Amino acid sequence: MMNQVVILAGGYGNRMKAAIPKPMLRVLDVPMLGWVIRACEKAGLSRICVVTGYKAQYIELYLGERYRTAYQAEQLGTGHAVMQAEKFIREFEDGNTLVLCGDAPFMDSETILQSLKQHTARENAVTVVTAELSDPKGYGRVLRSQSGIAAIVEEKDATDAQRAVKEVNSGAYWFRTKSLLELLGGLSQSNAQGEFYLTDTIGLAIERGMKASAYRTENTDVILGANTRKDLLHLNEVARQRILDQHMDNGVNFVCTDGVIIGNEVEIGAETTILPGTILKGKTKIGSKCTIGPNCLIENCTIGDQVMLNAVQAYDSVIEDAVKAGPFVHIRPNSHLKNGVKIGDFVEVKNSVVGEQTAIAHLTYVGDSDVGKKVNFGCGTVTVNYDGMTKNRCVIGDNCFIGCNTNLIAPVKLGKGAYTAAGTTVTKDVPEYALAVERADLKLKEGYSKKKLRSKLFPSDDEE
Ligand code: UD1
Ligand code: CA
Repeated sequence: MMNQVVILAGGYGNRMKAAIPKPMLRVLDVPMLGWVIRACEKAGLSRICVVTGYKAQYIELYLGERYRTAYQAEQLGTGHAVMQAEKFIREFEDGNTLVLCGDAPFMDSETILQSLKQHTARENAVTVVTAELSDPKGYGRVLRSQSGIAAIVEEKDATDAQRAVKEVNSGAYWFRTKSLLELLGGLSQSNAQGEFYLTDTIGLAIERGMKASAYRTENTDVILGANTRKDLLHLNEVARQRILDQHMDNGVNFVCTDGVIIGNEVEIGAETTILPGTILKGKTKIGSKCTIGPNCLIENCTIGDQVMLNAVQAYDSVIEDAVKAGPFVHIRPNSHLKNGVKIGDFVEVKNSVVGEQTAIAHLTYVGDSDVGKKVNFGCGTVTVNYDGMTKNRCVIGDNCFIGCNTNLIAPVKLGKGAYTAAGTTVTKDVPEYALAVERADLKLKEGYSKKKLRSKLFPSDDEE
């Protein structure tokens, strides 16, 4: 017996006015479709088919080879969408098929498994997940009879009395696979939108004497869908607050959560403070006793303990313990800042290793470089890593002292303890403990500016 999933993601989502399929719109940093898939996987369901349609290529690209897709050439409704997956569904007729909407991202593994339990225990042909909402607007309403569920009616097709019903359809259903195939054959387009409604399978099942029931969840978040940008913002707010709550439970400190957005997969240690305007994305991991923010954007970084980042943007990098960086620092991919590194304002580091306790205090670019320990970069140092054709590396040994406005023309190596004089352009390797100085003699022209400045300095003077 095989349990499988069909996720509907073919709709145009015209209320969103989006250039991409609605299920690809993000809640925090993950497309809604990704949230739905994750819930299935967590519930142990890995046989998944996604129905695509509008701008299918975006979904194909996102899924890669991971999952099957079925293409719905014309968007004729949710029932029609499931019909497009018929080949997939038929491959395992023995078992149950879960149908989910790609635009309802908070469906969770618990609801999936609990509703399956009810579905199989009652030997239902179909079980629909429902919830009672104080504001049911936009959802299909669940009509009940004395014996249980009777039908689902879409808002557009509902009478005023039906619209007053607060129990709504989540758009998630378990079907006995054989029954689903039979019911799909019975759908028609006779409704307000001229579509094949999947919701009609409920009434149809009852008409045909099959067993149907509702699994009513108390956790109303799981059914929240996004049809409008306003809905999407609401989902983002719900997700954001839920994640902030989890971090607070873990001992993370927030003094004000304005503009703080933390992705689902981010891990943060206890006693770390996250300050306003900070966005943490992807697989970012932050240690304990750090201060991150204000105004940091961190993506896919591993950050140690007691790190202080202020107005830092960092991507795909490793930042070890006790690093202090900011304000206005850009850490580009593949950088590794080792213990105790200090980075000051207007510094960019890219694809480089920076050794323990090295200081890069101001206005400096370190790209494609291997920097040792306790190096001091003077203000305005540039690793000249690109000659217009190829990128080359700089190697800078331990304890080097780099004078202000030094250009290091890569590939070049400074041996350990080497010094460079301010303003030097280094074009060849510097041996250990040597000083590189490249300067023209300073010429002095006495009294040079006096003539030019006369009118400013001595406005009342006549010509001599
Ligand atoms: C649907 C339900 C409604 C339920 C709500 C829950 C129907 C008729 N109505 O309404 O009862 O309360 O979900 O969120 O099922 N899709 C396709 N192809 C299509 C049409 C839609 O793949 O031809 C996909 C959409 O991309 C979306 C999902 O199906 O992911 C739901 O479609 P949508 O148009 O948003 O349905 P609702 O009006 O929200
Ligand atoms: Ca919807």
